[in-house]
Amino acid sequence: MSVVALCSAHGAPGTTTSALALCWAWPVARPGRRVLLVDADPAGSGLLTGYLSPGVPDAAGVSALAAGRLPVTAEQVVGCGVALDGAGTRMVLPGIADPVQARPLASMWQSLLGAARDLSDSGIDVVVDVGRVGHRAEPRTWLAGADLVGVVVRGDLASVAPAAAAVRGLAAERTGRLAAVAVLVDAAGYSPAQIGEALGVTHVLSLTRDPWTARALAAGGATGWRFERSPLHRAARAVVERIDALAPDRTVVTR
Ligand SMILES: Nc1ncnc2c1ncn2[C@@H]1O[C@H](COP(=O)(O)OP(=O)(O)OP(=O)(O)O)[C@@H](O)[C@H]1O
Ligand SMILES: [Mg+2]
Repeated sequence: MSVVALCSAHGAPGTTTSALALCWAWPVARPGRRVLLVDADPAGSGLLTGYLSPGVPDAAGVSALAAGRLPVTAEQVVGCGVALDGAGTRMVLPGIADPVQARPLASMWQSLLGAARDLSDSGIDVVVDVGRVGHRAEPRTWLAGADLVGVVVRGDLASVAPAAAAVRGLAAERTGRLAAVAVLVDAAGYSPAQIGEALGVTHVLSLTRDPWTARALAAGGATGWRFERSPLHRAARAVVERIDALAPDRTVVTR
C-alpha cells in the first residue's frame, strides 16, 4: 500500500475523523511502516480547526510545499509535515485554511503523488483527506491516482444515495485501477452487505460510530488506554489490515 484517498459525497459523514483514525491505527496494524496524512480538502482543512488548532509552523503545510520548486521531493514533503506523535511514525501535511488557496495547488498535487511513490519506498504510506467530491478545486489527482479510494458514508438514505453517484463517477475516473470501496462510519441498522449493494461497491470497510473517540481524535487526544481500546481505534486497525490486503505493496518491504 502506498496511497489511500478518502472522500465524501454529501454532508459531513466523518472523512477527516476516519482519516485521522486510520492514521493513528496505521503503524499499529502495519509495524515498521510510517504514515503521512495529507490534508487536501479544497473546502478548507478540517484539521486546522480541530486537531491542529494550536497552530502549525509557517514552514509546514501544503501551501509551503507549493511555494517551493516543483517537482517536490520526498524529503521536502516530510520537511513540510508535522509529527503527530513523539516517534514521528504519524505525520500530517496540514492543508489550507481558506478555499481560495485551493486552486493553485493542482500541479503540486500531481507532483506530490509522484513523491508518494518515493515516500513508500522509504517506509511511509500516505492517507489523503480529499473532502467532498465535486468541489470546483477538487484534487482529482488523488481520486484518479491513489492505489485505493474510499468513499466515506453513513448508512442512512441521505448519505447512501449521493455516495452511490460518487462511486459511479469514480468508476469512470479509475479505469484500469482498483474500484472505489466504501468506508462505513455508521451502519445505521443496515448490514455492510446491504450498504455495499446500495452503493455498487464490492468492498465495505467498516469503521464504527464512536462519539468519544471521534471527539478525542478531533481534539488531538488520541492517546491512553481508553483510546487504544476504543471501538473506533480497533475498527480502524482492522480497516488498515483490509486495505493492506486489497492493495498490497508494489515494493518489497522489510517488516
Ligand atoms: N466514527 C464516528 N463516530 C462518531 N462521530 C463521528 C465519527 N466520525 C465523525 N464523527 C463526527 O461527525 C462530525 C463530522 O466529522 P468530520 O469533520 O470528520 O466529517 P467530514 O466528512 O470530514 O466533514 P467535512 O465535509 O466538513 O470536512 C464530527 O462531529 C465528528 O466528531
Ligand atoms: Mg473534513
